[in-house]
Amino acid sequence: MSGYKVLHDSDTQDSFGHRDAFALDVLNGLSAQPKSLLSKYFYDTIGSRLFQRITELEEYYPTRSELEILQTNKTEIARYVDYGSFNLVELGAGFSEKTTTLLKHFIDMGLDFQYVPIDISESAMKSLVDTLERRIPALQVNGIISDYFTGMKWLNNRSGRKNLVMFLGSSIGNFSNAEVGKFLRSVWSCLKHDDLMLIGFDLKKGIDMLIRAYNDKEGVTRDFNLNLLNRINRELGGQFDLSTFRHFGTYNVFSGAMESYLISLQKQSVFIEKIGRAFEFEPWEPIHTEFSQKYLASDIDAMAKANGFEVFEHFFDSKYYFADSMWRVHKPTKPATKHIPDRKGVTLVH
Ligand code: AVJ
Repeated sequence: MSGYKVLHDSDTQDSFGHRDAFALDVLNGLSAQPKSLLSKYFYDTIGSRLFQRITELEEYYPTRSELEILQTNKTEIARYVDYGSFNLVELGAGFSEKTTTLLKHFIDMGLDFQYVPIDISESAMKSLVDTLERRIPALQVNGIISDYFTGMKWLNNRSGRKNLVMFLGSSIGNFSNAEVGKFLRSVWSCLKHDDLMLIGFDLKKGIDMLIRAYNDKEGVTRDFNLNLLNRINRELGGQFDLSTFRHFGTYNVFSGAMESYLISLQKQSVFIEKIGRAFEFEPWEPIHTEFSQKYLASDIDAMAKANGFEVFEHFFDSKYYFADSMWRVHKPTKPATKHIPDRKGVTLVH
């Protein structure tokens, strides 16, 4: 039996809906200096479809590299969970060849598990569960519609099973340095000692290749970026004229991240009805829309350690473009006892 469960958070979703949260984030981002918009808002229906097309572009290597990693190492990965029942938790609910490769392999091996995708979007979850039921009928899917942390806590309160949490595709690269620690510590606190996490990281590589991957010839990445303004127009009654903004994808050599911007080509004032005010743009003024951090293996090791995880192993593709890293949650039940030396007979000398 497969299905999904909607977890309602009455405080955040009923009185203050997704649209209000979007409006507030846009207000904050466009009032700031420099202006910015949050990359999580790329993924409405149109944006998700554009991202799907990006993953099929010749220039965009990460999806193919990660697929190669999972295909090559599926048996190795299964070895971490093949001794008991477990939840295969995935943060995000997009249908992908990467995940289905693992799911099919785990089923063929006769592993005892349920697949638990967690995603805030009910429509994305519904289509994922429908598709999986058709494509892999033997799979037990129990999706959770909620934010990642609420979903993981809810699952852990009801299931004593071991968890293998997957966060693939280098989604982690979208977080700023300050956010990534907060994210990992939140995941850590939702999980049990010995739970596992498989995280995708896009690796540092030749800059030309990076630039091409985020500035494809067909302009799909440009449309993906511009769709943010379109989404503001559709959902918040914005009046952005998309022809007056250009996509700019660049590599920041100091931070080691690809960064995406939308740049205003003229001085203009853009009214957003749902927010009830206009925003002023100078000619050539940028809106920052995305970070896509690139990593060294040593960055991954340091990040795991700093946030309570132990690295078991990094899986690389044959070209070393990408890594999926297997981590273990380290949560000793008792604090290490501090050795207090016997002070008997000690004379303090002043
Ligand atoms: C889905 C966040 C991994 O950063 O490479 C692709 C999104 N942006 N092209 C990435 C993206 C521009 C992608 N992630």
